[in-house]
Amino acid sequence: MAEEMHFYEPAQGHGLPHDPFNAIVGPRPIGWIATRSSAGVLNLAPYSFFNAFNYTPPLIGFSSIGRKDTLRNIEENGEFVWNLATRPLADAMNASCAPAPPDVDEFALAGLTPLASRIVAVPRLAESPVSFECRRTQIIELQGLNGEGVGSWLVLGEVVGVHIARHLLRDGVYDTAAAAPILRGGGPADYFEIGPESLFRMRRPSYP
Ligand SMILES: Cc1cc2nc3c(=O)[nH]c(=O)nc-3n(C[C@H](O)[C@H](O)[C@H](O)COP(=O)(O)O)c2cc1C
Repeated sequence: MAEEMHFYEPAQGHGLPHDPFNAIVGPRPIGWIATRSSAGVLNLAPYSFFNAFNYTPPLIGFSSIGRKDTLRNIEENGEFVWNLATRPLADAMNASCAPAPPDVDEFALAGLTPLASRIVAVPRLAESPVSFECRRTQIIELQGLNGEGVGSWLVLGEVVGVHIARHLLRDGVYDTAAAAPILRGGGPADYFEIGPESLFRMRRPSYP
């Protein structure tokens, strides 16, 4: 017999102590996004509604829930840098999510070092072992079923430059676990760290 299921329609509420949505769609990779305002102020913030969407060209995107400084900066100058959030950088990543006013340099706020990028004017994060220099391709306001905007914006960009710390390349192959990336779980505080023990391998089946 099938197990009894908890069912809910999100529009009517979940009927649980905590909304499980983020805990189910998780852990999610974190887009730790650096931007620069038109006034030249550096901005850094984590976005876990983040992922990669295409190989060639490489496209990544994140969702801004509401209009935030990162979104505004990318609207204004079309550039951003994605940085890998790792276990040693977890506290700094968290510090960078403070809702600081637009004139506050969030690299300085989080005790982090901006390093000049190669292609875009936005700096990368010196402490992070991997960074993607990106140029905006699309900004799309998300819509609900009724076709109305929900006040969240999907920001997509093409990766035009990739920086990888050499120690993460083993015989030229990128070692995901060696970077100890952190991912966002559900609830107010859950994160996951990826280590070598999380790895298993499975090849795609051939057909027939
Ligand atoms: C791990 C983590 C993930 C987050 N993910 C998102 C997200 O996907 N979308 C969003 O709008 N805010 C997200 N936030 C909150 C933003 O980081 C926060 O609102 C920040 O102040 C935005 O900065 P900005 O205004 O400089 O862009 C997240 C925060 C943390 C700590």
